Amino acid sequence: MTELDFDRYDRIRPIRWTGDALELLDQRKLPFATEYVRCESSDAVGEAIHALTVRGAPAIGIAAAWGVVLAARSIEAVDGAEAARKLEPAMQRLHAARPTAVNLAWALVRMNRALGAAGPDWREVIESEATAIATEDLAANRRMGALGAAMIEPGSGVLTHCNTGSLATAGFGTALGVIRAGVAQGRIDAVFAGETRPWLQGSRLTVWELQQDGISPTLIADSAAAHLMKSGKVQWVVVGADRICANGDTANKIGTYQLAIAARHHGVKFMVAAPSSTVDMETASGEWIHIEERDPGELFAIGGVRTAAEEIGAWNPVFDVTPHQLIDAIVTERGVIEHPDEAAMRAAFA
Ligand code: MRU
Repeated sequence: MTELDFDRYDRIRPIRWTGDALELLDQRKLPFATEYVRCESSDAVGEAIHALTVRGAPAIGIAAAWGVVLAARSIEAVDGAEAARKLEPAMQRLHAARPTAVNLAWALVRMNRALGAAGPDWREVIESEATAIATEDLAANRRMGALGAAMIEPGSGVLTHCNTGSLATAGFGTALGVIRAGVAQGRIDAVFAGETRPWLQGSRLTVWELQQDGISPTLIADSAAAHLMKSGKVQWVVVGADRICANGDTANKIGTYQLAIAARHHGVKFMVAAPSSTVDMETASGEWIHIEERDPGELFAIGGVRTAAEEIGAWNPVFDVTPHQLIDAIVTERGVIEHPDEAAMRAAFA
């Protein structure tokens, strides 16, 4: 893709640093209101991450990095090591905001490391580090877009899940970046997006985001996915990730696992696109991933209108794990791993 194509296909920015505050595009209100929430403290950033004002694995990592910069406003320290000690409680609170996406922990480790090596100029150092985390994410997404799109045969249809686009990253997106690149190159003729209950990241965010780019996706109910695959209209399922383990097992938005099972049954290929910041070589396999469970109340209503009987129970895990055996390709900015397993992951990320 040329620079011109990037400009044409990537216009939304969910995170803005103003120099004294972090502005987050409120993803709970999209697509009906485009409002930025202003965060002036690290705890406000942590709350915004927990409340899904900002969401998507890379985006919450970037937001947390800026949360550290905001926390630094309220401390004094002679060097980075002292600042790191004083900032530890704020970092722990940011870390606790959401457990499954490793990008959040990864960004905090990176900020901590930068502080540890910094002298009296530590304030500038952490601001540069937060900027670098965002800049590198955008570059990684663009690279992944090219690598992932190259695997897709011209004339293909694809199905995606949740929102993995500019809204979930520094820009361009992971799985949605692959889809953007694939459409731009004429490889993808049809894009299907699942609604993604209960937060509707697919119907509220992905479909809207693609529309901004002049791409017309087709929305489906999550429960229509297997039927769609049987129809022969999709050749690839392309999804993002919240954590990719040392053996290639991948955590992503709830519903991804059943898509992978249905894809294998129907001979549809399954691609995971994520930056290397989503790879967690310290977690051996998916069984060790902490799966976030949210308030069951999220299942009782749609858009504030109650759809379930009163006084019922519900279970609301918001991620699941796709075993590596069901994944045809993991695409990161470092390259493509086909048929991922422990050996292939070690070769790429040791
Ligand atoms: O709960 P969310 O909306 O933060 O979940 C997001 C996902 O599961 C995405 O697929 C994943 O973070 C990859 S985003 C590039």
